[in-house]
Amino acid sequence: MKIVCIGGGPSGLYFALLMKKLGAHHDITVVERNKPYDTFGWGVVFSDQTLDNMRQWDVETANEVQQAFNHWDDIELHFKDRVIRSGGHGFVGIGRKKLLNILQERCEQLGVKLLFEQDVQSDLDFPDADLIIASDGINSRVRSRVPEVFQPDIVTRPNRYIWLGTNRLYDAFTFLFEKTEHGWFQAHVYKFDKQTSTFIVECPEHVWLAHGLDQADQDASIAFCEKLFAKNLQGEKLMTNARHLRGSAWLNFQRIKCQNWSHFNGNSHVVLMGDAVHTAHFAIGSGTKLALEDAIELVRQFKELGDTADRIPEVLRHYQAVREIDVIRLQNAAWNAMEWFEVCGERYCDQLEPEQFMYSMLTRSQRISHENLRLRDKHWLEGYEAWFASRTATPGVRPPMFTPYTQRSVTLKNRVVVSPMAQYMAQNGRVGDYHLVHLGARAMGGAGLVMVEMTAPSADGRITHGCPGLWNDEQTADFRRITDWVHQQTDAKIGLQIGHAGPKGASCRPWQGAGMDQPLTADDAEGNWPLVAASAIAYLPNGDVPRAMSRADMDRITTDFVACTQRAVQADFDWLELHCAHGYLLSSFISPLTNQRHDEYGGSLENRLRYPLEVFAAVRAVWPAHLPMSVRISAHDWVEGGITPTDAVEIARAFKAAGADMIDCSSGQVSAQQKPTYGRMYQTPFADRIRQEAGIATIAVGAISEADHVNSILAAGRADLCAVARPHLANPAWTLTEAARIGFKDLAWPRAYVSGKPQLEAGFARERAQQTATKGD
Ligand SMILES: Cc1cc2nc3c(=O)[nH]c(=O)nc-3n(C[C@H](O)[C@H](O)[C@H](O)COP(=O)(O)OP(=O)(O)OC[C@H]3O[C@@H](n4cnc5c(N)ncnc54)[C@H](O)[C@@H]3O)c2cc1C
Ligand SMILES: Cc1cc2nc3c(=O)[nH]c(=O)nc-3n(C[C@H](O)[C@H](O)[C@H](O)COP(=O)(O)O)c2cc1C
Repeated sequence: MKIVCIGGGPSGLYFALLMKKLGAHHDITVVERNKPYDTFGWGVVFSDQTLDNMRQWDVETANEVQQAFNHWDDIELHFKDRVIRSGGHGFVGIGRKKLLNILQERCEQLGVKLLFEQDVQSDLDFPDADLIIASDGINSRVRSRVPEVFQPDIVTRPNRYIWLGTNRLYDAFTFLFEKTEHGWFQAHVYKFDKQTSTFIVECPEHVWLAHGLDQADQDASIAFCEKLFAKNLQGEKLMTNARHLRGSAWLNFQRIKCQNWSHFNGNSHVVLMGDAVHTAHFAIGSGTKLALEDAIELVRQFKELGDTADRIPEVLRHYQAVREIDVIRLQNAAWNAMEWFEVCGERYCDQLEPEQFMYSMLTRSQRISHENLRLRDKHWLEGYEAWFASRTATPGVRPPMFTPYTQRSVTLKNRVVVSPMAQYMAQNGRVGDYHLVHLGARAMGGAGLVMVEMTAPSADGRITHGCPGLWNDEQTADFRRITDWVHQQTDAKIGLQIGHAGPKGASCRPWQGAGMDQPLTADDAEGNWPLVAASAIAYLPNGDVPRAMSRADMDRITTDFVACTQRAVQADFDWLELHCAHGYLLSSFISPLTNQRHDEYGGSLENRLRYPLEVFAAVRAVWPAHLPMSVRISAHDWVEGGITPTDAVEIARAFKAAGADMIDCSSGQVSAQQKPTYGRMYQTPFADRIRQEAGIATIAVGAISEADHVNSILAAGRADLCAVARPHLANPAWTLTEAARIGFKDLAWPRAYVSGKPQLEAGFARERAQQTATKGD
């Protein structure tokens, strides 16, 4: 085959040499616009794993890289006059120039033709090529010539960065943070050869503008950075090797992904590779890794499917199918890490103590969990666990999940909450034996706090005929029976979630109708009832249209909430939560999708919050001052024009000002049009943002299903408590089970159950030992 690689960066060169190795008969040319051995940039990093991968494909290149690289294990943070270091991270740093030189030499050895100083205008310039590799980097001309074919999706990110070098040598991957009068700067620093370290300086656009760096040329920018990081640079200079860039050398990162990676241009098959087809932010240093692994995968496909011209279309199809998955995974992790650096100045730097800041930074991609950190550096992690525990006056080392938590006079024995879950098993709003067994079992199961499902302040505030209420003496006594049992038999606390269903009331039980939230019909045997809401908007197209509430309706419902709260006091609950989420009555006021009022309760967010805050204040006034109160909100409507996480911060601030202790950060269920992005711990970013920006304690909830999730969230300061719902349906003793799974023994089991504890612990210990042995094989 005749193959032309346009662009002699890591992807083009590495593909060329691997392909030549696969078949010496292939006629392969790399065309590069720069001079040989002439390149921009300083060092790049990739992981040990990438090098292992390279070794399998060309041991000569891998050996050369190995000899030239700088390996280091540690990450070091310099923050607020503290230096914190943790190990076990395993990186390889190499000069970009050195890497390219190794690849160029290896290409020449194998017989790849290298043409330098040729600026290719178009892939059409090589009509006799069977295959053209567009390895022409982020601004790929080949990609730009036919955007309708490749369909690139390019997002320009807000931070500014400058890629510099220094002769000060660092023996760890080092992160420096410095505050100026306009905001925070950070530097990502790593040594890549015996004389030089890469030194990338980054800051938000507004900070960059405030310092006039948009007007600064390269020398002025360097002078600025030298002064900013003077203490750390210890007299060493910063250097640029991007003199070819005109004007400011500060860049914005562009995230690129493409719908299609290849096409036939009329003469040749053309395929994008490396930065031309996808970019990954330097926050996890993976652009070179992706470029090299693209090259490997394309060669692997030729090896497997045949390296003849007629196989090209199939090979290219497989190449995209396989690579796309890895690339998306990496881009997602890089995206999280990038966002962390974009917001850290506003969200973390001034909020977190250095120890927790380090933890948050290390887990920024959300790919590294608590237990991963333990594998990397047990000593550091245990030190951190002891630090975390010491914040709660708990001596010794223990996972954050099992540290106590105090709000007002209530101390939870640990950080797990059984999230409120509607059971639809009440009769006439009364809870009975079913609820005693259900809640009792979960109170015995190890969680610090068990929340009762949404309970209505009036009969017409229920979601279904099966939902509980608290508006009469019988209901109060029924609940008191349960709380007494929990208080007498367990050391869990029990809380009540109060809420009015509003537009989502008068629904069928989920197993009765055609699915969730289906409306009762007027001829339902148990009867239907009229609905109220902020505005006359039905939740479902086939649902009853609620009446927009009058002032009299508001007063009546506020009074009901107050009476319900007084009954919750009599019922001896430890904790109260006001349900302002999921499209129910109070939520219907908050979201602009469901509130279209023209009075002082509609319009601005301030107006939309007015009634929920009135209810909150009235309830708080009768709920005892020594007991905590949380508010559950939908922090994201997942619909264009609905509540966003930015609004959620304002909502949290308003409830905080009104006296709320915690925000329970759920999302969605406000509009049937919602398009949520589900995934592991998918709502935790809302809890994190609200906690840091509104300065109020938060409960994270949603797809938190392992102790490792809980520990990672708490340790990074993303939330103060973790609510776990569905896993508690499968296993009432979820907390006891997870403790045993991670080998944490210092958790009391119910007296009568203790003989089950060592057995469960031994079983998990065997499992862990087997896993370790398998990894070691
Ligand atoms: C600040 C910064 C820090 C980074 N840090 C890291 C890191 O730590 N680790 C890491 O892995 N990656 C890092 N990267 C990313 C890394 O540099 C790229 O992802 C990687 O080099 C991509 O390889 P490539 O071969 O696809 O493209 P490139 O390396 O960009 O190579 C493209 C080549 O094509 C040539 N070319 C372009 N157009 C033409 C044309 N028309 N004719 C002829 N030749 C042409 C260019 O001169 C260039 O040599 C960083 C990037 C930046 C900007
Ligand atoms: C059966 C069921 C009933 C629920 N009922 C309520 C409820 O009454 N009040 C509430 O705020 N959330 C309710 N939720 C939502 C959960 O509290 C929780 O936020 C959600 O299930 C996400 O957590 P998970 O991924 O751990 O299940 C319910 C969830 C389930 C599965």
